[in-house]
Amino acid sequence: MSLSMRFLLTAALWGIIGMLLGIIMGAKQDFSMSPVHAHINLLGWVSLAIYGIVYRLYPVMAEGRLAGSQFYLANLGLLIMAPSLAMVLKGSKSALPALVISEFMVFGALLLFLLILWKHRNV
Ligand code: HEM
Repeated sequence: MSLSMRFLLTAALWGIIGMLLGIIMGAKQDFSMSPVHAHINLLGWVSLAIYGIVYRLYPVMAEGRLAGSQFYLANLGLLIMAPSLAMVLKGSKSALPALVISEFMVFGALLLFLLILWKHRNV
């Protein structure tokens, strides 16, 4: 499966999770998980879809190890961030280190994307 399709499929999956969380928050009138909902939707659905669309538009950018690593960093980072952010919001201090690590993972994914863009700035 192409890298762009992997990004788009995982984006849609994160979007389903994020929107379902929004629907549940609305139904229960409990908005304490709003930051988790916002991060899943924006780092999962929106950011991953943007990466996927760019790799579909410029397939040469998807070649090589950097772009593959970027996929794992962005997805694994959010996979760690969503539950650890939820735990921190519920008052758990023990989840803080995982949250900080996940922040640097998703940030690292964007840095890699910038590097890949820069390497292909003339395409
Ligand atoms: C079925 C779709 C969605 C539902 C039912 C939904 C529902 C909600 C609810 C109930 C809140 C809390 C409002 C409050 O605190 O008063 C919220 C906040 C928010 N939502 Fe959504 N949402 C949906 C989709 C999205 C999408 C697609 C995005 C972004 C791409 C998004 C981004 C946000 C943001 C940024 C906040 C504010 C978070 C905060 O203040 O901490 N939502 N949403």
